[in-house]
Amino acid sequence: MFTFKKLALAAGIGALLSSAAYAEGLKGKVIGFSQIGSESGWRAAETSVTKSQAEDRGVDLKFADAQQKQENQIKAIRGFIAQGVDAIMVAPVVATGWDDVLTEAKEANIPVVLLDRGVDAPEDLYLTSVASDQVKEGTVAGQWLIDTVKDKPCKVVEIEGTVGSTPAINRKKGFDEAVAAVPTISIARSQTGEFTRSKGKEVMEGFIKAEGGGKDICAVYAHNDDMAVGAIQAIKDAGLKPGTDILVVSIDGVPDIFSAMVAGEANATVELTPNMAGPALDALDAYLNGGTMPEKFIITESKLYTPADDPQGEYDRRKGLGY
Ligand code: AHR
Repeated sequence: MFTFKKLALAAGIGALLSSAAYAEGLKGKVIGFSQIGSESGWRAAETSVTKSQAEDRGVDLKFADAQQKQENQIKAIRGFIAQGVDAIMVAPVVATGWDDVLTEAKEANIPVVLLDRGVDAPEDLYLTSVASDQVKEGTVAGQWLIDTVKDKPCKVVEIEGTVGSTPAINRKKGFDEAVAAVPTISIARSQTGEFTRSKGKEVMEGFIKAEGGGKDICAVYAHNDDMAVGAIQAIKDAGLKPGTDILVVSIDGVPDIFSAMVAGEANATVELTPNMAGPALDALDAYLNGGTMPEKFIITESKLYTPADDPQGEYDRRKGLGY
């Protein structure tokens, strides 16, 4: 298994290593982790790094894959409560519908940490949330497009993430608000691709068909890299050049988007670190062992990468690390 240290360096998150990453404090603790599923390369990497982080700290991690279903997550969390775990981590598939189960965890005195997505529930029902600023991710992607097309008219198609999830809601908000300030940029179509490669391809095929073969589409903004990779395939299948005829901008920073950049088929990505577990376990360590309340929101970095940022090197640093 790869080590967290390697992944931290690969993802530019070495600074996190200094924050008590290998404390003994969680040794023997039982922590439940309700993961959404494996819809994307990023999600697979988050699962890998979480397991690796837990192992490095001697945590007994109870892992549950919800296969994209909130009901499975709620069932898993109830199971963790019944087992009397020391803490629960959850990556919530959608924002709403958590109040009851989070209340049950609170009543059982089990701290809950949210990973990578938020919930629409009272803040006192969870200990902390470790996630990126998802509105900012959309803004960074939108600003890249503005800086790239300048005053050229640009018709954009948008492939959204899972309906009702905070990254889909917030990445749309950030991007749409950024480009709304530029009258020459318009968002022609917007539809969910559910954060998967296959659905991203299918949605892009529909956009190309609806837009008379795609020649008028200037750019595709996908809420994650996997959907962008699917869109790239659809653009090629339509006889157009991704990265040139249609600009491609997305979010995550997975190895496949860097290899698409090397091939000249992708133009920009906003990195999302898969290491949510490191800060989450640090917070749980401090809380369970000393009663220290963490910040309510622990925000990870959102760095823009383009072909000017050594995409081959970025690919090499990430491949084989769980993506
Ligand atoms: O919540 C984070 C998002 O979920 C990632 O960007 C995406 O790839 C995923 O599946």
